[in-house]
Amino acid sequence: MSTVRHFMNKRCVFHLSKVKTTLLWMDKQRRLFSTTKASNTVMSAWVIDRYGSNDVLRYTRNASFPDYRYPLTGIIKVVAAGLNPIDISMRGGYGVSSMSMQRDPLNINQRGSEFPLILGRDFSGIIMECPLSNPDFKVGDEVWAAVSPYKQGSLAEFVMMAMVELSPKPKSISHAEAASIPFVGCTAWRALVETGGLNEFNSANKRILIIGGSGGVGTFAIQLMKAWGAHVTVTCSQNAERFLRDLGADHVVDYTAGPVEEPLRDLEKFDLILDNIGGDTERWALGLLKPWKGAKYITLISPFFENTDQLGIPDGMLQNFATVFYKVVKHLANGVHYRWGFFQSDRIALDIIGDMVDAGEIRPVVDETFSFSQVPQAFEKLEKGHARGKTVVQVSED
Ligand SMILES: NC(=O)c1ccc[n+]([C@@H]2O[C@H](COP(=O)([O-])OP(=O)(O)OC[C@H]3O[C@@H](n4cnc5c(N)ncnc54)[C@H](OP(=O)(O)O)[C@@H]3O)[C@@H](O)[C@H]2O)c1
Repeated sequence: MSTVRHFMNKRCVFHLSKVKTTLLWMDKQRRLFSTTKASNTVMSAWVIDRYGSNDVLRYTRNASFPDYRYPLTGIIKVVAAGLNPIDISMRGGYGVSSMSMQRDPLNINQRGSEFPLILGRDFSGIIMECPLSNPDFKVGDEVWAAVSPYKQGSLAEFVMMAMVELSPKPKSISHAEAASIPFVGCTAWRALVETGGLNEFNSANKRILIIGGSGGVGTFAIQLMKAWGAHVTVTCSQNAERFLRDLGADHVVDYTAGPVEEPLRDLEKFDLILDNIGGDTERWALGLLKPWKGAKYITLISPFFENTDQLGIPDGMLQNFATVFYKVVKHLANGVHYRWGFFQSDRIALDIIGDMVDAGEIRPVVDETFSFSQVPQAFEKLEKGHARGKTVVQVSED
């Protein structure tokens, strides 16, 4: 018995020393081939030091350089970053309970706080450092991705990403255009494909309603659905009608002309509804679906984070579960499916979307581009609403 224990101990020590040697070797390689200066401990970024309105945004040249201790991560020089409504909400403290739980320990300061926090979810940029063992990318490659909300964001000179989350930037568009797609692309993909069950083979002639077609998610979702042959109806303001028809929308309903549900009720029923607006839409939208045909209503506006912020994680999660369970069962009784949709970083989706962009099936829709010094103005613009596509920040030279 003691011989076995002795043998096991020896094996264990052998394995540990092997792991240590490998880690030391990887770190040495990283230093050897490092393209960011060894002295790089700080970088330029827009940070917040507390939650609040636009005046909490602070420019600094002394933000911490991304901590690059994990073996399968890379450092990307951000050329352009995209803004989303979640940046406005997070600036005000939205989702802080849930996000604190998932935050990377390397991004928590010594006092246990997430500040200074960098916002910005989308980026397009150039790989500055990556593991040599990575088969897909090398230093200098152009990539795009969306940073998960519980990580340091892209309104910075550099961002750290897991290599598996990176996707090659489409070659046919600029970095600024590319930065307009990842977050809304991944969100729409998750809602329509993962939750909604649609794909390029089963979407032809499906009837899709996009409630709120003129913003970032809507303009992307219209194009994805049209590329796959669906029939797309959208709701938007009257002055966005032309713009959305140009993107491919088949039928446009002006929500400013009166109760929008009335003209929608006169139309043939839908196979799937993507709701980007929320509010009272749930009261009437599920009645527009084809009953007992597997039709789905997917809303991006759920109380998920409000519940955990207000009630704490255990009670908030319980409330979320109870709410969604009640709604799913209630609507199932009427023959339609009710779902909440969420953003999720998805490299495979981005690879496919990138190919669709290069094939001319999806184009970036940039509403306005701001320089890096104009980040507060970019937030102000986004906060006013009435987006026509995406707001982008040019962080460095394209
Ligand atoms: N759950 C998630 O993970 C997730 C992920 C991404 C986004 N979202 C949420 O989804 C929503 C849409 O995101 P986004 O990036 O597309 O936002 P956005 O770019 O700000 O677009 C919102 C659009 O809706 C239009 N609009 C406002 N009220 C409307 C109404 N009653 N009917 C139809 N259109 C209306 C606005 O234009 P006008 O005011 O000029 O009409 C604007 O074009 C946001 O609330 C966002 O927070 C959630």
